[in-house]
Amino acid sequence: MKRHSFVMAFCLSSVFLSCFTPIALAAIGRYKRWPVGGSTRFYEFKVNTMKVTKLCHTRDIVTVNGLYPGPVVYAQEDDRVIIKVINEAQTNVTIHWHGVRQRLSCWSDGPSYITQCPIQPGQSFTYEFTMYQQKGTFFWHAHVSWLRGTVYGAIVVYPKTGVPYPFPYPYEEHTLIFGEYWDMDVVKLEKAVLASGGGPPPADAFIINGHPGPLYNCSANDFYQISVVPGKTYLLRLINAALNMEQFFSISNHKMTIVEADAEYTKPQIVDHIMLGPGQTYNVLVKADQPIAKYEMALGPYMSAQNTTFQNISSIGYFHYSGAAINSLTQQALLPQFNNNQIVSSNLNGLRSLNVTNLPLEIDTNLFFTIELNVQKCNRQNPNKTCQGANGGIFAASMNNVSFVKPTISLLQAYYNMINGLYTSDFPGVPLKIYDFVNGAPNNIPNNTNSLIGTKVHVLEYGSKIQLILQDTGTVSTENHPIHLHGFSFHLVGSGSGNYNPATAQLNLVDPPYINTIGVPVGGWAAIRFIADNPGVWFMHCHLEVHMSWGLAMAFIVKNGVGPFETLPHPPADLPRC
Ligand code: C2O
Repeated sequence: MKRHSFVMAFCLSSVFLSCFTPIALAAIGRYKRWPVGGSTRFYEFKVNTMKVTKLCHTRDIVTVNGLYPGPVVYAQEDDRVIIKVINEAQTNVTIHWHGVRQRLSCWSDGPSYITQCPIQPGQSFTYEFTMYQQKGTFFWHAHVSWLRGTVYGAIVVYPKTGVPYPFPYPYEEHTLIFGEYWDMDVVKLEKAVLASGGGPPPADAFIINGHPGPLYNCSANDFYQISVVPGKTYLLRLINAALNMEQFFSISNHKMTIVEADAEYTKPQIVDHIMLGPGQTYNVLVKADQPIAKYEMALGPYMSAQNTTFQNISSIGYFHYSGAAINSLTQQALLPQFNNNQIVSSNLNGLRSLNVTNLPLEIDTNLFFTIELNVQKCNRQNPNKTCQGANGGIFAASMNNVSFVKPTISLLQAYYNMINGLYTSDFPGVPLKIYDFVNGAPNNIPNNTNSLIGTKVHVLEYGSKIQLILQDTGTVSTENHPIHLHGFSFHLVGSGSGNYNPATAQLNLVDPPYINTIGVPVGGWAAIRFIADNPGVWFMHCHLEVHMSWGLAMAFIVKNGVGPFETLPHPPADLPRC
């Protein structure tokens, strides 16, 4: 009954699709299913400001429903999720559901100026999507300016009722969401960084579920702790929501078994340390199999670039065995050196899908994108203040040497309504110049490290089978970049160091991980594959916020296919206006 009325409600809101009865849906479902969902979960997100006291200071931060981190969205696989976002804050907001593939629901994806205009103060917008064939650990975050610095929370999607995990059932589950805390307004921070032309200041703290832990000033009691029963196994859902830093996480004396990456099951991989770039999620199993004591959980920096400053104090939480005295000595966690690339590549190489579906073995579209940091020539007034990038220039970043500039109306609206002049469709499928990517430069290093500037998209035919090589470059410094694709998960079929060479690259076409964010190895490459079967406009960008602001982004337009199951629906009526 519930389901029936939901389908009816759906029909009412659907103008160009003919109205399906549940029976018609079931019949069509043998071939392709419209992702309407099992049960429906409703949430209301009030975006508002709240006072927090951290690191000896009290300030206002923007959060959701007065919680920091924000509320957890719970659902089951194939559920419909409806979230009304009401903006009661003084700043523009949109929410992105990171990792949700948004099948036929691109309008609800959330990146500002890509799929929608921001929700302005006093306005609201209702996001609707289906967790179509998806389960696991995801997160949601603001996708406007650097607001993601405080506006984020977990999404936990359980398997359908009766479907077990592919590993022994854990005694308990805990979600650990990692972030960076700034003692200033993060929207102003973005403006200040862009105005300076230079790099961002380090975060004031790393935080685990909002808590910096005892190594920071005034934070002796501001820590997160899990109380554990000796002998039991815990499932930890790890999410990196940090703005600008990749991070290592360890628990002293305990091994972690990775069982899921980016909300897809993996073959078990046992590790001492795990690196998460912003945008990555992992589920790990931890067995409380050590002597009764208090063990540290530690979060610290992974920085693979040269000549940058970053926060170096670890955020500490506790894995506290019941029976251990509150003030008993703690077992210290040892994190890797901040530049330990070895651990990162061995983590990545050990990542294998549990089951593989829909891996394209034949490719019809080969793409090759370089990932670059750039220094633009200083062309501003007051260079001492405004051109603080390397050699008195302005920092920028790019893909295929094009720095992405956001349009003034969302790309999806421009595309859907055929509004001219907001973007061009000439984002190059391969670099315009071929050179020694890791050791050379596209222009003439060190004199010319400029990128082109533009709002360029790359158009994909519906259903095309894509292989995309992501190649790190050394124009300014090589660096590990967490590249995130909206609207899809992709199969990571290979990665390596140096320049990609098709003659020698080893591809894994047997059990590649199926993920949505790939930490492209420092000075190396990654090869990903996906089928472009979800129509819409899909952002792809570095999830280090400062790199995105500098232009390390592009968008794909995936054209419609044939019929309603391959066609982007019309926009919702409450889509915000610019
Ligand atoms: Cu979580 Cu466009 O990103």
